[in-house]
Amino acid sequence: MKMLKLALVWAGTLGQLLPGRLAAQDGSPAAAVPVERLRARREALLKKMRIGVAVLRSASERSGDPPDPDYPQDSDFRQDNDFFYLTGLETPDSWLVLVAKESGPGQVILYLPPRDPVQERWTGAQLGPGVLAAQETGIPEADIRSTEKAEAEIRDRVTGQQSLAAVPGGAFYFKHSKKNSESEFIRSIILAPFVQAADLQVILWSLRQVKDENEIWRLRRAAEISAQGHLAAMRATKPGVWEYEVEAAAEGTFRRLGAERVAYPSIVGTGGNGTVLHYDKNRAKAESGELMVMDMAAEFGYYAADVTRTIPVSGHFTPHQRALYDLVLGAQQVAIDSTRPGVRMRDLDGIARRYLHDHSGDLCGKQTCDTFFIHGLSHHIGMDVHDPAVSDLLEPGMVFTIEPGVYLPDEKTGIRIEDDILVTPEGHEVLSAGAPRRAEDVEKAVGKP
Ligand code: GLY
Ligand code: MN
Ligand code: MN
Repeated sequence: MKMLKLALVWAGTLGQLLPGRLAAQDGSPAAAVPVERLRARREALLKKMRIGVAVLRSASERSGDPPDPDYPQDSDFRQDNDFFYLTGLETPDSWLVLVAKESGPGQVILYLPPRDPVQERWTGAQLGPGVLAAQETGIPEADIRSTEKAEAEIRDRVTGQQSLAAVPGGAFYFKHSKKNSESEFIRSIILAPFVQAADLQVILWSLRQVKDENEIWRLRRAAEISAQGHLAAMRATKPGVWEYEVEAAAEGTFRRLGAERVAYPSIVGTGGNGTVLHYDKNRAKAESGELMVMDMAAEFGYYAADVTRTIPVSGHFTPHQRALYDLVLGAQQVAIDSTRPGVRMRDLDGIARRYLHDHSGDLCGKQTCDTFFIHGLSHHIGMDVHDPAVSDLLEPGMVFTIEPGVYLPDEKTGIRIEDDILVTPEGHEVLSAGAPRRAEDVEKAVGKP
């Protein structure tokens, strides 16, 4: 947040830079992304580009200024995912340029805002161009520049006579996001004569869908922390508890264990609220006899878990609730058991639906329970909770959810069970296994502080 704009003017000593730095996850329990990982990601991107120039912009601070404030909250700044993936930096208002040549290694140029001693008295040390930035990113110091001339230099590199975006087979790679492609600067480059525009986003998605060892470490920790949060939430639940109290038990645990933020707004829905897929008001009181759906997870070092448990508020399932719960659990388990490299996510979806169909009995009335499974079984996770992917075919290193559900609004009953699965060369590993899942284990945890 730009505190300087709050009408107060710092009258102390100016011109002195603060010690310390705000760099690559500095001070975060997740620590910095190792430089060799960042280099490998950039090299993989350059290889896929073949010939051309790619331009990425980092995120900016949101504005707290009237008349159009964004209502930023505590630690509100979050880096753009692709920028973080390639640089490991949390610096706002920066540019990354990658130049892929037909032969020889490519070049990576990083533009960082110059350090500002006045601003730093308010918001802390920033990483500027220099040796520290080179150490953090593995980009040569000579290729780290100030943003003061960034736009002119980038325009010249892409549209100038020597441009690799205009040679046969070359391209200007940029992200097709609304914010990006509609920015005046990027549009002016795309519209320049001879520049061949190409989609950078789809290449980044194809790289990001298979996680490297550091990403798997982050996701594993995000899932472990989330599982601990679920356990705390189960323990905090008893008849009369408010949904937000359960949310607080989980989120307090996430933060205590090193998560910087939640992976998405926590969903705690008791009774009929549990049948609303993205219910996140979390304002109702939980009553004995109800089931409560808790879809809550932590983000750790920029990586998001996604975990759901469904629990009986009283600590005991009724026989009907238990039968429905075991049906959903069975559907999840067959899908988990079928997970290995070479299987398609849509096949797992079919396997879970068939299980619900074949084992429904009369649990869902005249219809089979698969009718009431109204969303997809799976999605990738990563820096986005719904992480982008370009392939449906599972490979080692992919991490995705398996989350069957049955929603019966007429009975005010929703059940969803969601876990995070790493695809391994041999099969799979359930990263969120620390959260009780079998009905008897759930019953043992609920209401037992
Ligand atoms: N928490 C959002 C989802 O399960 O997809
Ligand atoms: Mn999910
Ligand atoms: Mn979820």
